[in-house]
Amino acid sequence: MDRSLARSADCDLVQSRRWHPTFESSLHRAIEKSFNELRMWIPWAQVLPTRDELTLVLEHGANDFDADSRWEYSLFRPGSHDIVGGAGVHRTDVPGRYSIGYWVRTSCTGERLATAAARTLSAAVFHHLDDAEQVTIAMDRANLASPAIPPKLSYALAGLEDRDIITEGHTGQELVWSLDRPLVLTASTGTVLSQRARKRSFAA
Ligand SMILES: CC(C)(COP(=O)(O)OP(=O)(O)OC[C@H]1O[C@@H](n2cnc3c(N)ncnc32)[C@H](O)[C@@H]1OP(=O)(O)O)[C@@H](O)C(=O)NCCC(=O)NCCS
Repeated sequence: MDRSLARSADCDLVQSRRWHPTFESSLHRAIEKSFNELRMWIPWAQVLPTRDELTLVLEHGANDFDADSRWEYSLFRPGSHDIVGGAGVHRTDVPGRYSIGYWVRTSCTGERLATAAARTLSAAVFHHLDDAEQVTIAMDRANLASPAIPPKLSYALAGLEDRDIITEGHTGQELVWSLDRPLVLTASTGTVLSQRARKRSFAA
């Protein structure tokens, strides 16, 4: 049974590469330059990490990736070594359900990089994780840009759920979007061609 994601996942706009400790310098720069936006929404971005801390975070993420417990990627423009964001695939408490998260360096927003990365990783989950039945993407209800992304990738709005308030922007409620395993995947691109009927309820 296949339970691993590839170390890199590419499309025309963006390359997703498995975390590696050598990304520390570029990642630190990208987080620092985006900190005001990230800290509004992302729990891990409440304090700017030191470079040593970031190296450890990258090492742990790489180990977790290789152990297939979570899959964290940095985002690059094709051929570049400058990080333009991050995206990750995570297991959830519900068997067969995975979640995707993303962020983009502030100077690179509006170029559809997050949409491209989320599309690539959504397809990768269904291609490579045999037990994957559903992928979710969630964001705080006050976040304006992030909810524009899932519907472009055929995710359906599954519900509004209570959540802990961790960051300054959080309202205590998040929008949850879900995509069920498609009936057909193209072999080469992973394009989602059709979907199973979506569940009406979102009960765990
Ligand atoms: C949210 C975020 C990932 C978007 O990244 P991005 O690469 O700019 O996203 P994309 O360009 O792929 O798509 C963004 C969409 O939001 C839309 N959008 C942007 N700002 C918006 C706003 N204020 N109101 C409504 N829609 C907005 C864009 O028009 C675009 O839709 P379009 O392609 O149909 O025009 C990025 O801004 C970010 O990292 N923000 C801070 C952290 C964060 O919020 N992460 C997500 C947590 S769930």
